[in-house]
Amino acid sequence: MTTVLKLGGSVVTDKEAPETVDEEAVAAAASALADATDDLVVVHGGGSFGHHHADRHGVSTTEGTDDAVAVRDIHGAMKRLNGAIVDALAAEGVAAVPVHPFSLAARDEAGALTLPTDGVQTLLGEGFTPVLHGDVVAHAGRGATILSGDELVVSLARGLDADRVGLCSGVPGVLDESGAVVDRIDAFADVADALGESDATDVTGGMAAKVRALLDLSAPAAIFGPDDLAAFVSGERPGTVVAGGADADGS
Ligand code: IPE
Repeated sequence: MTTVLKLGGSVVTDKEAPETVDEEAVAAAASALADATDDLVVVHGGGSFGHHHADRHGVSTTEGTDDAVAVRDIHGAMKRLNGAIVDALAAEGVAAVPVHPFSLAARDEAGALTLPTDGVQTLLGEGFTPVLHGDVVAHAGRGATILSGDELVVSLARGLDADRVGLCSGVPGVLDESGAVVDRIDAFADVADALGESDATDVTGGMAAKVRALLDLSAPAAIFGPDDLAAFVSGERPGTVVAGGADADGS
């Protein structure tokens, strides 16, 4: 079983304070992941590392930059966060190794992403736990743009033919208008009215973008909060199940 799991930037960092790791949350997440029996690919978001630099340099998933300083600032910050997460996983005995998407991926002029997964697949086969992150990405005709962790998750899930996908975010799932967790989403229209925008600086969009991305997948996906991470790792589907593609008939 291959599982692709994203730890959201709001889970692993203090999103309001530039370049601040939430040490306690990262340690708790690492401890939960140490119990994984599936082949696990971890992706983490940018939180207060990537987004502040991206915002400062005016870079987003569509607004590119040809300024090498901006690329180094954003990528450098994400590498620092990645190092902190790899170290926390290592401290729990996980065979975590860093994989930097900037060195692998590219977008074409239309924005379509190419992400070779041979390296990640081979690392999994050799018993490693690859840890990727939201990053900058070479973008034909626009210099470099932002590659979100959510987009990486979708691309990896397809490329690795993943069995399960999880997005651990700052909330316990997708919330309806009354604040209750929605159990299951089969189509975007189910939640279109309930989904607002993320309140902190977030160049890659909030919950609506996550739901849309997961609906595009055939693998079952779950969106849940940090308290449910251990349950997800043990094989449960906590929070909100997002049933796209093959699952769309409601089965
Ligand atoms: C953003 O990744 C990466 C950069 C800004 C470089 P995400 O968009 O996946 O990050 P979070 O989870 O929303 O913080």
